[in-house]
Amino acid sequence: MPSPNAVKSLAARLTMLDGNSIPQFGLGVYEMSDSETYNAVKWALEAGYRHIDTAEWYENEKPCGKAIADFIKSTSTPRSEIFLTSKLKNNASYDRTLRDLKQSLKRAGVDYFDLYLMHSAIGGPQIRKEVWKACCDAREQGLVKSIGVSNFGAKHIQEMIDQKVPLPVVNQVDLHPFMRHPEIVKICEDNEILLEAWGPLARAMRFTHPSLVKIAERKGKDVAQIMLRWGLQHGFVIIPKTVSQQRVVSNSNIFDFVLDDEEMKELDGLDEYLVTDWDVVDCE
Ligand SMILES: NC(=O)c1ccc[n+]([C@@H]2O[C@H](COP(=O)([O-])OP(=O)(O)OC[C@H]3O[C@@H](n4cnc5c(N)ncnc54)[C@H](OP(=O)(O)O)[C@@H]3O)[C@@H](O)[C@H]2O)c1
Repeated sequence: MPSPNAVKSLAARLTMLDGNSIPQFGLGVYEMSDSETYNAVKWALEAGYRHIDTAEWYENEKPCGKAIADFIKSTSTPRSEIFLTSKLKNNASYDRTLRDLKQSLKRAGVDYFDLYLMHSAIGGPQIRKEVWKACCDAREQGLVKSIGVSNFGAKHIQEMIDQKVPLPVVNQVDLHPFMRHPEIVKICEDNEILLEAWGPLARAMRFTHPSLVKIAERKGKDVAQIMLRWGLQHGFVIIPKTVSQQRVVSNSNIFDFVLDDEEMKELDGLDEYLVTDWDVVDCE
């Protein structure tokens, strides 16, 4: 785990297995309409976010790309400063993966994604192997800078280790104090695969938990900021979603305080395997 003080700003990056780097903090845009997506991405970039997490599944790659392009144009920010992730919806075949990726790039209006993820491990070992080979080749072709996975259980990561294929640079799984996935975290950390925390706010489902409320009051922060700081101090990449401009800003105000060991331990103790969306880490 990095020193809590190591994470000092919104644009701070972590180095990935392949040598590329990823901003540790970003905006997730799941379940946003086109106009909500455009506005949230715009507000986030204006507030200093440099990392946006979309997916073919979310059907909003286009407004993400448009908001990024408009921001780049109006501020002369280099494209290389903004980290854009998308994800493959269906694990079907080698050819279909490259086709779907190219369609995602076209929708987003970008030449490359900084990170492209298999959205899940669904499909079985043979399909996973084929799809991952296509992801590796897409990286060779420059269509994506880095490749990773999402919702992979420990056994799926072990499968990749056993196959001696290039390992994913991240595994994006649901991670928050109420869902800690210890086995997945361990195998990823042991193999230097970064953990990316989706649902880092547990979809606001536990905001009245007494431990969170108590620590928030003590720190003069809101409970969302406490949950996000917890993820940051564990060394996770965190991508909270909000359509509110005020919350885009408040969620990012987590770099001016530190949770102490006791507070981290108390939050670590809240794991209840809380599923906030889908749970496919154990699929065949
Ligand atoms: N790989 C996967 O399978 C997967 C699955 C799910 C999500 N994700 C990614 O992870 C991102 C985040 O996860 P998520 O969207 O599931 O959930 P989340 O970030 O844990 O929570 C989002 C919810 O919390 C609310 N919220 C945000 N900030 C708040 C605040 N400061 N105070 C009160 N409420 C607040 C949002 O409402 P408002 O919008 O109204 O603020 C929304 O209802 C997604 O957007 C997506 O990019 C990936």
